[in-house]
Amino acid sequence: MTLPTVPEVPGAEPSRAILDSFRISIAKRVADALPPLTVEQVYSGVDYGKKGVDFTVALPRFRLPGKVDELAKAVISQFQADDYVESVVHDKAFLHFTCRTSSLVRAVLDQVHALTNETASGLPEYGTNTTGKGKKIIIEYSSPNIAKSFHVGHLRSTIIGAFLTNLYKASGWDVVAMNYLGDWGTQFGLIAVGFEKYGSEEALQKDAIKHLYDVYVQVNKDAEADPEVKVAAAAWFKRMEDGDEAALKNWRVWRELSVKKYAEEYERLNVHFDVYTGESKVGKKWQDVALERLNEMGLISDVEGAKLVDLEKWKLGKAVLRKKDGTSIYLTRDIGGAIERYEEYKFDKMIYVVSSQQDLHLGQFFKILKLMEFPWADRLEHVNYGLVLGMSTRKGTAVFLDQIIREAASVMHEQMRKNEEKYAAVEDPELTSLEVGLTGIKIQDMAAKRINNYNFSWDRMTSFEGDTGPYLQYAHVRLTSLTRKNPELLPLPPPSEIATDTLIEPAAREIAFLLGTYPDVVKTALRTHEPSGVVTYLFKLSHAISSAWETVVVKGEKDVEKARARMWLYLCARDVLGAAMRLLSIRPLDRM
Ligand code: ARG
Repeated sequence: MTLPTVPEVPGAEPSRAILDSFRISIAKRVADALPPLTVEQVYSGVDYGKKGVDFTVALPRFRLPGKVDELAKAVISQFQADDYVESVVHDKAFLHFTCRTSSLVRAVLDQVHALTNETASGLPEYGTNTTGKGKKIIIEYSSPNIAKSFHVGHLRSTIIGAFLTNLYKASGWDVVAMNYLGDWGTQFGLIAVGFEKYGSEEALQKDAIKHLYDVYVQVNKDAEADPEVKVAAAAWFKRMEDGDEAALKNWRVWRELSVKKYAEEYERLNVHFDVYTGESKVGKKWQDVALERLNEMGLISDVEGAKLVDLEKWKLGKAVLRKKDGTSIYLTRDIGGAIERYEEYKFDKMIYVVSSQQDLHLGQFFKILKLMEFPWADRLEHVNYGLVLGMSTRKGTAVFLDQIIREAASVMHEQMRKNEEKYAAVEDPELTSLEVGLTGIKIQDMAAKRINNYNFSWDRMTSFEGDTGPYLQYAHVRLTSLTRKNPELLPLPPPSEIATDTLIEPAAREIAFLLGTYPDVVKTALRTHEPSGVVTYLFKLSHAISSAWETVVVKGEKDVEKARARMWLYLCARDVLGAAMRLLSIRPLDRM
């Protein structure tokens, strides 16, 4: 089927988002009836309609002279139905347009089908866009501290960061996914001191993250009882900062082993990094320059040898930039780190995915970079998020990422076992419960606006009922199983020979329309940096699919043409559902 040509409109991309051409066709009708409005002007005012309405235009937004009723009448009197639009109704200040079902369904399914090839982002082409072409972005996320606990805040950063990485890739950006480890600071002096007493090579090789944490906890206790320990730790760290190889030797091994272990865990989470950097990698040079420049600006004061920057003027408080003994701190390292990253990558944008507990810290170092007049300072963005409350495993509070992963798998495994019959049919219960459990965690984490705090609940997230991760995986599995259950309908004929005209049920239309909106869901997420929009979309789509199962049946439909068209609709839905799940870093399952 070929739809009539529509004028080109900047920002519209019908070759990737077919609903854009329906929108343009609506815009043209309104513009033609209401000069001097242009198609372009109206286009940006063609919104999705509320319940049951495809598209709505709110007339007052164009600020035209004359009464709204008159304007509406002008549009309606000239209205002619065509392949795009079937009808229009006028309701107060609004015009509601209904697309022609046959062309809508056909056009959307054709497009989904034509764009199933995988792109460089690892996602199918449908839903992607090219708005970031030629641009480079660094996305820094996860960034745990070696030898300290991996808390849920880090988990959130990991999940949201992985989503943003996929999202920017899907929009054509060149993405550098960066992990900025907390691998530097006085605590490493402390661990070095502690390691002499409590360290074990064997335990270190077995699980570096856990062992270093244990040593850290023990030596911290010592330090509380005996101030000498702190002094020794500070002296050790000073040697590290001064580049004393002997003091650095062990630290290097710890870092390497920890990164190795983390990389394995990230792999299980379906999260990937291009670069593992860290606070230790930040050079001295720019940290010194920053201090000097701020000093020239009269913003630095000396408090017993320590250097303090005063940002009160910008309501950003005061902050230490350098300690008495000359060693650097978190804030200065971030300043130097950003400058070095710009020198190396010349990014067009850099995002830091860090908890809102660090709003002040990020505000401070962004401000300092602006005060230093780096022209790229306004390319930095802080994507923040709220707290997770009440996350603990059954054995107590989780401190390691692998504990969280294991708990997700085992809680899910128990849940699946409750349905004996289904459980017996699962091929690989271990792997399945791990994936479904992780899906539960991710969906719960991304379901609401980032900034909200939320209460962590194993019960809720592992349930198959309600808007949960397991429910989504189940929806995907059910769609996938269609081909296994209806082999007699396969292979499907080429799209042009599939009888999409038979897809007349409202439930079928609803699915097709939702599939058509997916490219917009991606674009909106890019603007807001909110994964929740994608989660909401996934549930809307899976609800539409689940209510279609009864009226739009495949198995048992005697008309083969019809059955095949329905199957095609569901398979297109599976592809888009899967694509949106992957965008969220979830691996869609084919069986469970
Ligand atoms: N390692 C830090 C922490 O655990 C987070 C790092 C955030 N990124 C940054 N550039 N400061 O609190």
